[in-house]
Amino acid sequence: MGFPAQRMRRLRTNETIRSMVREVNLTVKDLIYPMFVVPGRGVKEEISAIPNNFHFSVDRLVEEVKEVFDLGIPSVLLFGLPERKDELATEAYADDGTVQKAIRAVKKSVPGIVVITDVCLCEYTPHGHCGIVENGYVQNDATLRLIEKTTLSHVEAGADIVAPAAMMDGQIGCMRRVLNDNGYHDTAILAYAAKFASKLYDPFFKYCTKSSVSFGDKKSHQMDYSNADEAMREIALDIEEGADIIMVKPAMFYLDIVARAKEQFRMPMAVYNVSGEYAMIKASAELGRIDEKDVVTELFTCFKRAGADLIISYYAKDVAKAL
Ligand code: PBG
Ligand code: ZN
Repeated sequence: MGFPAQRMRRLRTNETIRSMVREVNLTVKDLIYPMFVVPGRGVKEEISAIPNNFHFSVDRLVEEVKEVFDLGIPSVLLFGLPERKDELATEAYADDGTVQKAIRAVKKSVPGIVVITDVCLCEYTPHGHCGIVENGYVQNDATLRLIEKTTLSHVEAGADIVAPAAMMDGQIGCMRRVLNDNGYHDTAILAYAAKFASKLYDPFFKYCTKSSVSFGDKKSHQMDYSNADEAMREIALDIEEGADIIMVKPAMFYLDIVARAKEQFRMPMAVYNVSGEYAMIKASAELGRIDEKDVVTELFTCFKRAGADLIISYYAKDVAKAL
């Protein structure tokens, strides 16, 4: 039953009709805004590699979070930078660490916002690796103990959702157990489930968290970008261990993974539109080669079409304003 019985253009004749049959719709509730907290007071400094995003001290962060929430964005993802870095990543789980202070301040002044925290050690270690390093190798099980401590310190400060990013085996199970043992049964885990070793994180390390690795790379724990079957196994394990939301990271080059995972697991899914993706679009827009607003709207809609329910992006505020 082809042409002329079928004419695909009938439902494309005007915007009203198109909007009636649209399969996915992007809304402000889909957005999560990542933010970087630094020690000190009165700090609001633009991060050069991701223009229009800033390092905030706790006092200035709170003002910005209010603005984010007023735009209708339901959630922020917080990253903390320590005063000092050390081998044991001590400030990652310090009760008075930067991110712990930030969580308390944000929950006090904007109680309605959902605070998600990145649980990883790389911002806190001098070598920039995501865990304890011995003999030049990241030690899985020793790192798990520190991930547990970090998780607990975040929820005790008031985090609503914890987001483990280290890609250690067993981290979700350990976090779930520590949360349950301490009465936080209802705290959700947003798992960086399929996190690929990607060069698209470079602006993040170099500029956002100043945690570039001093030797080697992260390929012993982050995934090889050639592998999709393995990504399904990673995600399945995280779900078994207690993940509530699963994330694919990076986003743009990995939508096949998103689509497959949605199809296979039917779980709430997030994508992380990472620093390198932001930087590419921004640079092209600054050169006048693409229309930033239209391209980003298209990109975010495509994330949703692929199966993402939530989009973590440095563009969250811009998109919220555009919607
Ligand atoms: C882990 C973490 C990383 C990013 C977010 N969380 C880097 C990594 O561990 O490899 C990268 C995000 C981005 O590039 O925007 N703390
Ligand atoms: Zn890390």
